[in-house]
Amino acid sequence: MQIVVADSETDFYEKAALRIAQEIRKNPAAKIGLSTGRTTKGVHAALAGMYQESPFDCSGVTVFGIDEITNMSRDCRASCYYILLHEVVEPLGIPLENFRMPDPMAKDLEEQCRLFEESVMSDGGPDLIFLGLGENGHLGFNQPGTPFGQRTWLSYMDDSLDERLRRENRIPQDVKMGGLTLGIKNLMQSKKLVMAANGRNKAQIAEKMVSGPVTQQVPASILQLHPSCEVILDPQAAEMLAAE
Ligand code: GLP
Repeated sequence: MQIVVADSETDFYEKAALRIAQEIRKNPAAKIGLSTGRTTKGVHAALAGMYQESPFDCSGVTVFGIDEITNMSRDCRASCYYILLHEVVEPLGIPLENFRMPDPMAKDLEEQCRLFEESVMSDGGPDLIFLGLGENGHLGFNQPGTPFGQRTWLSYMDDSLDERLRRENRIPQDVKMGGLTLGIKNLMQSKKLVMAANGRNKAQIAEKMVSGPVTQQVPASILQLHPSCEVILDPQAAEMLAAE
């Protein structure tokens, strides 16, 4: 695990975005997994800025989101499809047929898990997966307690995220959201992983992720065992690391 601490918030977003840009420049046919959330919003904006300033060929790149909220239309601003379409796919001119996501409204969601896994893990699997860190240590929607051997599945959302999504997107209580997510086993099969975390609210869990015991209670701690994982932190998220 390689740990990089950025000098500032801006430096954090640029360093993180550069990892994705470098991967595409190096391999124009790269298959890249992306995450959604507050952290990656800034990363994706920095990536789009880099692309605008000095465009690179994205016509052969395949991207997918590592997770999706079930029972939510793709037109909803909170859906991972909507977010990635507007933050990455359109700004970088990635062909729509190269954008792989499960259908969150499908009748048979178990089947969606199988099809989605097949689509992203085939042909050698992902070259790079870019991860964010849940405040409780989750990876994708793999919540604490998820077995490390778990493959693509239907998980639940932690209460705080469920509450925040409802508040920010005015989602009524009768819509039952769930998390269709690549499993920890799938994430660990990516050739390369980049994990980015920022803000003081991530300091404690970031410390557990990089220095704590590898335990299913902290899903992100498994990253310590990946042969090529880079962790990028801003100064605030790294605060508890510096004390060591
Ligand atoms: C969400 C997503 C994760 C994301 C994480 C961090 O639950 N399912 O894929 O990485 O939470 O989000 P944020 O950056 O908003 O803290």
